[in-house]
Amino acid sequence: MSVVCASAPAKINLSLNVAALGDDGYHPLQSLVVFAAIGDDLRFESAPKLTLNIDGPFGSNLAGASDNLVWRAARALQETTNTTLGAAISLTKNLPIAAGIGGGSADAAAALRGLNTLWQCGLSPRDLEDIAAGLGADVPVCVQSRPRFMRGRGQILDDISPWPDLYAVLVNPGIAISTKEVFARFDDFGAGNVLNGLAPKPTKDVDAALAQLAMLDNSLTQAACAQSPAIGALLATLARHDPTALVRLCGSGATCMAIVRNAAAATQLKQALRAEFSQYWVVATLLRGTCSFI
Ligand code: C5P
Repeated sequence: MSVVCASAPAKINLSLNVAALGDDGYHPLQSLVVFAAIGDDLRFESAPKLTLNIDGPFGSNLAGASDNLVWRAARALQETTNTTLGAAISLTKNLPIAAGIGGGSADAAAALRGLNTLWQCGLSPRDLEDIAAGLGADVPVCVQSRPRFMRGRGQILDDISPWPDLYAVLVNPGIAISTKEVFARFDDFGAGNVLNGLAPKPTKDVDAALAQLAMLDNSLTQAACAQSPAIGALLATLARHDPTALVRLCGSGATCMAIVRNAAAATQLKQALRAEFSQYWVVATLLRGTCSFI
């Protein structure tokens, strides 16, 4: 096989409960994670050495190849499998950068999946998750990109199945946010926080899922709003436009989301937001209850 394509769906934390900083420099967390129907696209073609080409709407916002997570994922897989094979990698960046929706992590995970196939390494999803853990806290959950309850620093993954498809509108105000800085602010505000121990119960029913999500929040919201006041304003705007929606910060921000009842409500909200904020990135998307690849 000489060409392999892989999609890198956006990672969405439906809940994010964070505890105080641990001795390892990371915060223990609990998070219900699902994946959107939108994402970046990767293509891998057999080549004598590794190269990385980046394009797409947000491609120009990315730093050079060697510190890109895709590059680091490819090198990590080469090292683990002792392969000298190369690949010409193309990354089409459709997702905003440093946006709290795991773009870089999803790209790295897609690179592990795609190159595992291209190079016929034969590693299992579990093996890939182990390599992923060395690349970043959010990379393991992106390997299989299906609903998971994530714990530890992000490396402990329990399936949540069944879980329904949900409709959401994602909005990014064009502000890049450093995850590290938001966690540092969280320490200023929230040191001493403990995990609430609330694990979501699998369900097929949308109303039952939404009722559970209403009880769960994102612990980083206050810190992210302090980092960038535009985030608080955006959360308030979403709630004003659709008072029935579940409005949440995505990850460490600055993307915010409104989870709505159906596709029609998502389209209506998307159109209203695009009319109000022509400069913002606004998409209506399905948050998948299952995963169609791997
Ligand atoms: O692992 P990753 O590089 O994606 O994490 C970025 C930063 O976010 C880390 O350096 C750490 O400061 C913070 N972080 C954390 N606790 C987590 C995940 C990330 O403190 N569970």
